[in-house]
Amino acid sequence: MIVDQGKNLDIINIVNYFSSITKTEVKQRGDAVSPNIKYSAVIAGTGFDVPEKILTNEDLEKILDTSDEWITERTGMKERRIARPDEAASDFAVRAAVKALAEAEVTPEEIELIIVATVTGDMPFPSTACIVQDRLGARNAAAMDLSAGCSGFIYALATARQFIATGTYRTILVVGVEVLSKITDWADRSTAVLLADGAGAAVLKADERPGQGIITTYLAADGAHGIDLYMPAGGSRIPASIESVQKRLHYLKMNGSAIFKVAVRSMADVVKRLLAQAQLRADDIKLIIPHQANLRIIEAMAKLINFPLDRVFVNIQKYANTSSASTIIALDEARKEGRIKKGDLVIMVAFGAGLTWGGVLLRF
Ligand code: ACO
Repeated sequence: MIVDQGKNLDIINIVNYFSSITKTEVKQRGDAVSPNIKYSAVIAGTGFDVPEKILTNEDLEKILDTSDEWITERTGMKERRIARPDEAASDFAVRAAVKALAEAEVTPEEIELIIVATVTGDMPFPSTACIVQDRLGARNAAAMDLSAGCSGFIYALATARQFIATGTYRTILVVGVEVLSKITDWADRSTAVLLADGAGAAVLKADERPGQGIITTYLAADGAHGIDLYMPAGGSRIPASIESVQKRLHYLKMNGSAIFKVAVRSMADVVKRLLAQAQLRADDIKLIIPHQANLRIIEAMAKLINFPLDRVFVNIQKYANTSSASTIIALDEARKEGRIKKGDLVIMVAFGAGLTWGGVLLRF
């Protein structure tokens, strides 16, 4: 059968495809009750790695109709890291993982599962997790990728925690990595100034003491808003072709203002739900580590939940939006800067393509 590529390539069809999805009310979900918790999942080590190349707002002024003033005021971003043409996701993922494993004093052979959260893996398959497994020499580990946009690391952490809680695995490597510069339309100023590259990793270990590490998690999604943040081509609906490239369909498309509103509302909601699930108050939380998409989103979320900004971690000025990698890069920096001490309660919260959102409440 000859596929009508021309018809498939019509971006309007994709818009119709998304809007044909039944719009359903998002109901409460998550793990308000956490049955079968045999073991706590504790973070034994973290690490991150970013490209060497720094792209500043001033550099962007030279290639786009934008300004340092606009980017700083609207996003809080000052610079970001951009991969070389020959660098791919697994390069950063492996370097981040090596650092996390060293801190956790875990050898690659001890890892039983690798989860890599990414939407910009080395290639559609094999998974980037399998490539990382091979490159680390983690020959006893199962491996899989997880796609949840910028919430990817949170989804991966919650998934890993379930395997540990049930006693299935004792040692899991969780990585968040993104090379967004390779799916960025460098002619589109509304997205090009936001996106960046990097990786972060955490080693999770089983702990027999109850109430340690991950205390509770909450995950949610609303596919009806997928159209607000997506990459049209490169999948089975619009496979790569000369036409798909000419129509710039292999780049990320975003409705920034729609995402902005959902982001603020959903991240505030996640924090409230996590506190309610754990029967804690905002005062009990030492630090909130939000997805670094926009400083104004972070500030609006903090205001909505009446949480002091000095207890919200921000490093967006240095790394911009690294999607799946953003919360774990921020967590590693916060730990290494001494912002988190033993026993502190921390909330990690994110939203992203899907749309997805979620959070994790941890004791260090
Ligand atoms: N430089 C200068 N002007 C710009 C730029 C730019 N880089 N980008 C847009 N503008 C212009 C627009 O054209 C518009 O001009 P007009 O008024 O003449 O039409 C004006 O600035 C205002 O544009 P808005 O889109 O209304 O600006 P806003 O204040 O909403 O900020 C932004 C845009 C930063 C994208 C914001 O909406 C946002 O952060 N949204 C959320 C983005 C996000 O979190 N995405 C998810 C992560 S991405 C991922 O998952 C990989």
